[in-house]
Amino acid sequence: MHKAVADIVSKKNSGKKISVITAYDYSMATLCDRAGIDILLVGDSAGMVMLGYENTIPVTMAQMCLFTEAVSRARQNSLIVADLPFMSYQASITDAISNSGRLVKAGADAVKLEGGKPMAETIQAIVGTGIPVMGHIGLQPQTTMLSQGYKVQGKTVETALRLVDDAKALEEAGVFSITLEMVSSEVAKIITETVHVPTIGIGSGPSCDGQVLVIHDMLGMYDKLKPKFVKRYLSLSKDIQNALESYKKDVEEGKFPTKEHLFSMEKTEFEKLRKEIES
Ligand code: KIV
Repeated sequence: MHKAVADIVSKKNSGKKISVITAYDYSMATLCDRAGIDILLVGDSAGMVMLGYENTIPVTMAQMCLFTEAVSRARQNSLIVADLPFMSYQASITDAISNSGRLVKAGADAVKLEGGKPMAETIQAIVGTGIPVMGHIGLQPQTTMLSQGYKVQGKTVETALRLVDDAKALEEAGVFSITLEMVSSEVAKIITETVHVPTIGIGSGPSCDGQVLVIHDMLGMYDKLKPKFVKRYLSLSKDIQNALESYKKDVEEGKFPTKEHLFSMEKTEFEKLRKEIES
């Protein structure tokens, strides 16, 4: 049986932090799940790292459903949270509910959406249908990116108080956890101590109840951006590039394939074939 939302919530104050990583495809999701990661987040960051968009704005529901289906085929233990992409929940509550339903039918256990207090009513409506929601405040790539770019959030008293207020509103609306993206570590600590649901930080310091990273960032597979908050565990781009260059060289020099990679006919059958061709 895989993890449930309640298992994640109960980790708050348990002394053990919550591990979250983004996953978009079957092979990677299999490895993440096998590693015991608590939550596989099918993030709309897929638009950038998988599809090559400049930002997450062009991502569609159809694409998010495809990624979610692939991840859900791999999942044995982890909880799956899928992002509602830009404009799939902002225009109406009806949109928000029906698109959350599509992600759940694709294999998600919960959905995530960006926004503070103004999203409370929408969140309440989705939760009211029985679909768990993860909130997302601080840097909100679907919208803050349009107006501000990548900027740390909550650096002044005014913005910090607004973030705390947003977190409280999301908790009241029924979220089971809140992602804090690029929030100053002091404010992330205050929010974590204020709300009763777990906070999941990305670039928001060590006080959060859990941490999330984009898998391409932590494996060193996405070279376009190198945020300060990312810890790189591998340099896969370099390793993959080297492997591909070795493969190209082997093919060009006739060093691949060798005996161990080929299939052969029975000797007697081959003799018959040779005679047939000669006659
Ligand atoms: O889309 C995503 O990957 C996310 C994380 C960065 C939190 O929302």
